[in-house]
Amino acid sequence: MTLLTKARSGVEGFDELVIGGLPRGQTILVTGGTGTGKSTFAMQFVYKGAKVYDEPGIYVSLEEKIPSVVRNASAYGWDLDALQKKDKIALIDLSPAVAGQIRKIDVTDIYSTISSQWKRIGAKRIVIDPITVLGLQTESLLQLRTDLIRFSSMLKELDATFLYVTEIPEDSQGLSRFGVEEFISDGVVVLYYSRVGGLRVRGVEVRKMRGTSHKEGTFPMKMGEGGLVVFPTGKLPKLS
Ligand SMILES: Nc1ncnc2c1ncn2[C@@H]1O[C@H](COP(=O)(O)OP(=O)(O)OP(=O)(O)O)[C@@H](O)[C@H]1O
Ligand SMILES: [Mg+2]
Repeated sequence: MTLLTKARSGVEGFDELVIGGLPRGQTILVTGGTGTGKSTFAMQFVYKGAKVYDEPGIYVSLEEKIPSVVRNASAYGWDLDALQKKDKIALIDLSPAVAGQIRKIDVTDIYSTISSQWKRIGAKRIVIDPITVLGLQTESLLQLRTDLIRFSSMLKELDATFLYVTEIPEDSQGLSRFGVEEFISDGVVVLYYSRVGGLRVRGVEVRKMRGTSHKEGTFPMKMGEGGLVVFPTGKLPKLS
């Protein structure tokens, strides 16, 4: 029997929602509307993993270019270049847009790039941001679901914990861009940036986490100077 162990998320306060951290070896979907902090959450997991927990990590960007990823992180005081030089993290650009052309991306190619970097730095944490890009190039939802299942089962051969970023379109009642991502993931973390009166407040909810209990409900979250902070005993004002 394999016992479930947890990886500290690196997001202050969040691990109390999932009773100690994210289940190792699993695929966790980080989802939410635009600007809710999905990329920050995912990068914080990789950055703190490498910096604080001595767990190297891979950040695969399928949308933003790496210089922009590095710049955004530096606003939180995170020096990704330094960690990259020490082979504690690997930042990989696999975005389909290259030199004005759109290249076809394939889950087997993505997997082989990840797996060679995983070997090189001994990665324990792997982020794909956003996984939705795969869906833009598949012909049907069934094909996407099959691809994602195949991709996840290949990744799970690697000894690591995985975060997939997806997005919730404005005005959608669903949990993801294509409505399949939450079903192929072991866990789902939803980030909010909701209107309360004239203000917007940030929140986080663990919607599912296979194999472990977790706190129920939406909890306040802040985007602070050092990244995201969750308040696991706090209450959100009533959302409109
Ligand atoms: N240094 C910072 N301090 C405070 N807030 C910040 C800082 N940097 C970014 N933000 C806030 O975080 C938001 C973006 O966060 P992030 O890129 O993680 O969100 P996202 O959900 O990945 O967005 P997207 O939908 O564009 O992928 C910004 O719109 C801004 O409100
Ligand atoms: Mg993002």
